[in-house]
Amino acid sequence: MIHTAVSAALPPLDALPQIPRPNRVLMTTPAHFRVAYVINPHMEGNIGAVDRDEARAQWERLRETYGRLGVDVSVIEGQPGLPDMVFCANQTLPYQTPGGERGVVMSRMHAPQRKPEVEHFERFFESEDYEVRRLDADLPGDFEGMGDALWHPGRYLLWGGHGYRTDLQVYERLSAALGFPVIALRLTDPDFYHLDTCLCPLDEATALIYPGAFDEDGLALIRHYFERVIEAPEDEARGLFACNAHTPDGKHVIIQRGCTETVAKLREAGYEPVEVDTDEFLKSGGSVFCMKMMFW
Ligand code: ARG
Repeated sequence: MIHTAVSAALPPLDALPQIPRPNRVLMTTPAHFRVAYVINPHMEGNIGAVDRDEARAQWERLRETYGRLGVDVSVIEGQPGLPDMVFCANQTLPYQTPGGERGVVMSRMHAPQRKPEVEHFERFFESEDYEVRRLDADLPGDFEGMGDALWHPGRYLLWGGHGYRTDLQVYERLSAALGFPVIALRLTDPDFYHLDTCLCPLDEATALIYPGAFDEDGLALIRHYFERVIEAPEDEARGLFACNAHTPDGKHVIIQRGCTETVAKLREAGYEPVEVDTDEFLKSGGSVFCMKMMFW
């Protein structure tokens, strides 16, 4: 079942099966990361502008940050000719069913340049004994994995962004095939082209959002399910990807350095922000959340 507005048909959160929080992350080395083409507004003017050494150093520090927080980090090698492969939130959607089966839905990337990235992740998840699913061949439309599809923390409920990279009908199929409800959110601002640029679920009751990226129905759905909604200011959300933060444990929030107001609000709400530098990756329209995939 897919929901696009608040209605009496929305399932209450506590009626949905509980799913454990993923405790592992996958990262892709930035060996071949650069801005080589423009497929989102942040990339404009940045072709050739990535400092490779700095990108590597920032990536290593992010990997160390996960390690320090006790998260198990797996790494796959970035491939030549695939400069965006480092953004490994996009090629897959790993899931765990209420019965405990682990599987993964492979993405269908919107940009032709990124399509060949997907097979490398398929091999990784096969080696982890995940059930690998592809979108039905007869289904039109694209799907960019956890760029747009985010699990509600702890529940078998999916938040599905659509409008730029992922098409709404894909969520209908996924919901029917895997039995989770999808709360669909239409994205309305091209700077926030993936849901993970404007919605960061922190725990079952709390989300960090940039409200300007959603329509009224979307905002009402977010406020319906999250008791506490922390709003990032526009400059930090647009320029520093404040909402592309990630909490691996519901306590520490890894976030791009300089999001002063967002960090203060997170602290006030009881979280522990961990600031990192992802400036080189911001040139390509990605930050912390985009640079890893969570799985079990
Ligand atoms: N340059 C990449 C693209 O436009 C950045 C992807 C960022 N990933 C994300 N999950 N928002 O596809």
